[in-house]
Amino acid sequence: MSIPNSDTLSIGVCDYPEHVPQNEWAEHAEQQKALGLTYVRLAEFSWAKIEPTDGVFDWQWLDDAIATYVAKGLKIVMCTPTATPPAWLVQKFPQILAIDAQGHTMKFGSRRHYDHACETYRKECKRITTEIAKRYGQHADVIGWQTDNELGHEGTAVSYGGASAARFPKWLEARYQTLDALNEAWGCAFWSQDYSQWSQICPPNLTAVRQPNPSQVLDYQRFCSDMIDEFQQLQIEVLRALSPDRFITHNFVIFAEEFDLYKVAKNLDFVAWDSYPIGMLEFFATWESEETKTEFARTGHPDLVSFNHDLYRGIKGGKDFWIMEQQCGHANWAQYNPLPAKGAVQLWSAQAWAHGASSVTYFRWRASHMAQEIMHSGLLQQDGRADRGYQEVKDFDPSQFALEKVDAKVALLHDYNSLWAYNVQPHNKDLNYWHQFMMFYTALRELGVDVDIIHPEQLADKQYALVVAPALTLMDEKTARVLTNQAQSTPIIFGPRTAFRHNSGRVANKGQFELIEDIVGIKLANFDSLRPTLEQAICCENTKTEFSATLWCESYEATSAVVTHTYTHGPMVGLPAVTQKDKVSVIGALSAGLISSVLIEALSGAGITTYRLPKGLRLSRRGNTTLVQNFNQQAVEWQGITYPGVSFTRLK
Ligand code: GAL
Repeated sequence: MSIPNSDTLSIGVCDYPEHVPQNEWAEHAEQQKALGLTYVRLAEFSWAKIEPTDGVFDWQWLDDAIATYVAKGLKIVMCTPTATPPAWLVQKFPQILAIDAQGHTMKFGSRRHYDHACETYRKECKRITTEIAKRYGQHADVIGWQTDNELGHEGTAVSYGGASAARFPKWLEARYQTLDALNEAWGCAFWSQDYSQWSQICPPNLTAVRQPNPSQVLDYQRFCSDMIDEFQQLQIEVLRALSPDRFITHNFVIFAEEFDLYKVAKNLDFVAWDSYPIGMLEFFATWESEETKTEFARTGHPDLVSFNHDLYRGIKGGKDFWIMEQQCGHANWAQYNPLPAKGAVQLWSAQAWAHGASSVTYFRWRASHMAQEIMHSGLLQQDGRADRGYQEVKDFDPSQFALEKVDAKVALLHDYNSLWAYNVQPHNKDLNYWHQFMMFYTALRELGVDVDIIHPEQLADKQYALVVAPALTLMDEKTARVLTNQAQSTPIIFGPRTAFRHNSGRVANKGQFELIEDIVGIKLANFDSLRPTLEQAICCENTKTEFSATLWCESYEATSAVVTHTYTHGPMVGLPAVTQKDKVSVIGALSAGLISSVLIEALSGAGITTYRLPKGLRLSRRGNTTLVQNFNQQAVEWQGITYPGVSFTRLK
């Protein structure tokens, strides 16, 4: 969904009128309109301003602010302010506070200090959402809503005590019905963990020797995900009733992993996410080398950013999404916060569009004079002068970007249960689910291939030329059936650790691949977690090309598959590293070269053109346009055309 009546990209800004004197509002709104912005996002942290004390409301400032924007022709995206319960509310209901893994109760003084399972807090959120929706839900210029702000971000999805601890056993009882079933699913025979009453079950923190049961951790993750889902749903219901015909969305975060986005986004009209390409490189991409981080320090890494775009486009099955917060200067929350290169703000905006964004909202209008985000930039500096991003937005013409369809032919399968199961026992300090996933994603992007990132269940909705499942480590009967069907018509490539665990988090009785052995035709021989100084050599049976793998290697016993690549040294010498049965391949080793070479062959078989793109140059297609993006600071030549540093070029 886009801004009503817009068939091209829209741009807007996050603004905080409550942070600046009222006599400056009109000038700001005027500048925003002149900059080509069409809407402002408001009020996501404003609870204490709206309701300064229990039951006493002050709407005047917000009424005035809205009137000021509207007078200049701007639309409003309104937020529920539930990310910041005020001091009086915390004092009245201290039980709403979350408890961290060390058992400490969170204190007031920041944001998202609440336990999503807490009924008292849910009631309060319903109450404030009702009030704000009653006031603005039918306002002609309020076009839509954002619920809360970045649900569960910064480690706030989980509370290890209070309401969550009390609700967890009940949630388990509904899931398992009997304690026998739970004891079996969690493997409680191990270390004498059997439960004889539901009330004995706790959240998985502070266990002796710091190793909670991984199945318990997995279920706690699922439970917290459900709590967030329920928490948000209450707000959605209020907004639907009191603010009909307006959109409802939520601003999710970079590499969100705290909850199942497919479930939590289900009742939203579309998803939005907050894009901070530079912070993302510094903070999330723990696997990137210092060299790569330096190269992309001022633009962010193209694949990390586009991965999140593709992920969010896929969450609701290929729908346009919004960027609800777009970095437009330096951020404040990473270890290092360099200034973006000149051109980066435009490049990010165009890239977002190419991957399916219908709207880009810059964060924030004016840099804050106060509190936690003093060190963060905005389009305006603290003193009100235009900052670097301002000029870039001024020179960016969103009407050039038509909202056509992104139509990728390759699907990458992603699933939160696999993510949680993988990360609970990564078995290698330098490895996690996203890292493995990104090796396959980057390989495809380096080849100039567009991808959809989808849940396996979404395979039923669209026919792809190639399906890649980089890290589908948790396999249940339903997914196995979907994949078995898919394998009849579509080539599938699986990565390491595929189908290692069942839904409970346990390994299947017959080991890895039990549920999909018919289509892969292999059993696991061994897995090998490599320390940074170890490598494994692999040779292609056909071409005799050699590859080197790091981090993780597994070898197989082929029961009915053909062996295409074999380990040539080390403890797995002579054993299969890559196999193929009919349309299904399994890659057992983490080697960028090997992954790329298997993909090239499969893509060529599927009739998809591949390129060898220079580092930092990327292609993304939307409708009939190919957007060439150069994330390098220097110009790059490709196929006879020179692309300037930090730029985008539209090819028709
Ligand atoms: C986002 C958050 C904003 C602001 C911003 C700073 O994660 O939603 O409120 O804190 O980061 O970069």
